[in-house]
Amino acid sequence: MIGTVGALCVTGVVAMPGTASAASTLAGAAAEQGRYFGAAVSAGQLNEPDYMSRLNGEFNSLTAENEMKWDALEPSRNSFNFGTADRIVDHGRSRNMSVRGHTLVWHSQLPGWVGSLGANDLRSAMNNHITTVMRHYRGKIHSWDVVNEAFQDGGSGARRSSPFQDKLGNGWIEESFRTARAADPGAKLCYNDYNTDGVNAKSDAVYTMVRDFKQRGVPIDCVGFQSHFNSNSPVPGDYQRNLQRFADLGVDVQITELDIEGSGTAQANDYRRVVEACLAVSRCTGITVWGVTDKYSWRSGGTPLLFDGNYNKKPAYHAVLAALGGSDGGGGDASCTVSYEQTDRWGDRFNGRVTVRAGSSAISSWRVNVTVHSPQRISATWNGSPTWDSSGNVMTMRPSGNGSLSAGASTSFGFTVMANNNWTAPSIGACSVS
Ligand code: G3I
Repeated sequence: MIGTVGALCVTGVVAMPGTASAASTLAGAAAEQGRYFGAAVSAGQLNEPDYMSRLNGEFNSLTAENEMKWDALEPSRNSFNFGTADRIVDHGRSRNMSVRGHTLVWHSQLPGWVGSLGANDLRSAMNNHITTVMRHYRGKIHSWDVVNEAFQDGGSGARRSSPFQDKLGNGWIEESFRTARAADPGAKLCYNDYNTDGVNAKSDAVYTMVRDFKQRGVPIDCVGFQSHFNSNSPVPGDYQRNLQRFADLGVDVQITELDIEGSGTAQANDYRRVVEACLAVSRCTGITVWGVTDKYSWRSGGTPLLFDGNYNKKPAYHAVLAALGGSDGGGGDASCTVSYEQTDRWGDRFNGRVTVRAGSSAISSWRVNVTVHSPQRISATWNGSPTWDSSGNVMTMRPSGNGSLSAGASTSFGFTVMANNNWTAPSIGACSVS
């Protein structure tokens, strides 16, 4: 009898693998790796259908981008406004998302009244803020950024000047963590900072503090690495090594505010490296990107996120999904876009250039119609294979050896228009993938 049950169990186990297919969302793929994948959210966008569809469809964790900061929650002493933050937290919980609390004690977005308190008052205001906010959200927050950005940039390794540092001395960080543990013993307590993503003097200083806290039993569970990257602050070569050395102290590590300025393949590769670094560190428990769409990013000009301003998946999205082991069925819909500019003009003619750019997946061919306005005539073309309609006004341009474009990559073709006294720009049709 026992033997039979055992045999059935073995059969059941053998039958199960192989039926799973790759997850098709960031959250699903991250979950299969035992991680969460989150986004920073603004209350102002909670009513925008496209925003919500991406948020709900792709992410299983959220952070309020501004609404849980001190100035939002306690703008005047002991007068707390939780309404807007509650909307964000309630939304996350209603969709089974975990919620990161950001942030309890930070020198920035700090209401003026805090800075004008004397030391004793400041200490009690700080502890009261931590306690009141954490009790309000008790049981609802996965991880809190208890203290944010307490160290100086550069090589000093010193603490940053702030009302807390200047009036309370070094002990205020430890005190904040002890107060936080008492207020919500179920929440993970994180220290969060930027420019600490690689091994450097600032991350060394944070490391020394965390090691000291662990040695002395000061409650700390996690360290957040904001990971705001651009060409001045690229993804460090020792990113993974840095995450690992913190994890080796016995804390979880989280990537808390990821964004990388750039576009196309280069941006996608940087995102891939970040995801791979997290996956290589077993205590790297999740990744949060600092926004859903480029259009609402705090650095929107740098297009640093995974969805463009129209909520299309960018090459970076596909790179992240693939690095997490997921797939949305071949890299998304093949598409292309066009732009036009006049490049030269003479007394009787002008040259135009059309740039063809692949969307978020690679394409192998493209087709664009260019319509000139009679009595204009196209007298020359280059970098493409043209055909003409019977009127001679509509040219259909196809590639001439330049049809294969990787995701986000571009090519261009050109033509000369004899104006015949009509200087109107040609009409450029939509780009088709063929
Ligand atoms: O809501 C007001 C609006 O009413 C007003 O008209 C407008 C005029 O300036 O300001 C709006 O508030 C802005 C707020 O973002 C919401 O858009 C603030 O001025 C602006 O300072 C604030 O910026 C935030 C910044 O923190 C403040 O330090 C960014 O959105 C937010 O992304 C950014 O997030 C920080 C993290 O908390 C910590 N790590 C760095 C990260 C990036 O700076």
